[in-house]
Amino acid sequence: MGMHDSRVALVTGGAGSIGRQICGRLAGAGAHVIVVDQSDRAVAFAAELEEAGFKAEGMVCDVSDEAAVDLLADRVKARHGKVDILINNAGIVLRKQGRKVPALQLGLDDWNRVLAVNLTGAFLFVRAFVPLMVDARWGRVINMSSMGGRVGSRINGMHYSASKAGLIGMSRTLALEVSRAGVTVNVIAPGRIATEMNKSEGTSDQLIDTFIPAGRLGGPEEVAACAMYLASDEASYVTGAILDVNGGWYMP
Ligand SMILES: NC(=O)c1ccc[n+]([C@@H]2O[C@H](COP(=O)([O-])OP(=O)(O)OC[C@H]3O[C@@H](n4cnc5c(N)ncnc54)[C@H](O)[C@@H]3O)[C@@H](O)[C@H]2O)c1
Repeated sequence: MGMHDSRVALVTGGAGSIGRQICGRLAGAGAHVIVVDQSDRAVAFAAELEEAGFKAEGMVCDVSDEAAVDLLADRVKARHGKVDILINNAGIVLRKQGRKVPALQLGLDDWNRVLAVNLTGAFLFVRAFVPLMVDARWGRVINMSSMGGRVGSRINGMHYSASKAGLIGMSRTLALEVSRAGVTVNVIAPGRIATEMNKSEGTSDQLIDTFIPAGRLGGPEEVAACAMYLASDEASYVTGAILDVNGGWYMP
């Protein structure tokens, strides 16, 4: 897939299961990858990429913290002057004892936290970096939603579903406004992927048999492959789209 090796790519949640795969693929394609995550894992993983001969740096930042995101943006702009590819992938689920909190028992604190990280975090990064893409007349924004934002979430709850549906509305409106400037904005909506996030919940063979035509969970590398396509030069006429990566579980 075509990608200029002068690209600067920033991936939030870049040290997580899906994020690492995305960063690895982008770095492999020659991009300079900025791994953003809430802990030192961002720096450690970027160091791993550098040791493997790729261009990468890690930045620790809570994506929901406006001041921290603004500070990060200043540093990135001073160092690189641009971000070509922005992948808003950081996300949380808040369950209780590993189980979904029922909609009518959801507390405001949990609601606010999930919206802050999953939705407002993406907004803060869009606000910080998309103006540079518009100026450059080239950019790729990819927002990591979820099947839970399309059809409701059986395992992660109403706050998670609302945040992921919010990303879809945000992406489409942004696509309306910046596509003419050569900036595409797209959404990836994974179904159930075999990652840390799903460990506590588990997925029965019966559920897979009944609901997932592909007959298995997805791999994080399969989500990363979609991100690579949307970030590529070739995807220039794809904007405002939702790429469902769910093994056929949901076919809109
Ligand atoms: N795993 C799945 O089945 C699945 C399905 C659909 C969508 N998704 C979405 O894909 C994305 C990646 O999920 P994953 O499965 O790799 O999960 P993960 O937990 O492995 O990765 C998420 C990463 O986001 C980081 N993060 C969380 N809060 C943050 C914050 N406030 N600031 C900065 N970083 C923060 C975490 O530290 C972690 O590294 C998420 O947005 C998730 O909602 C996952």
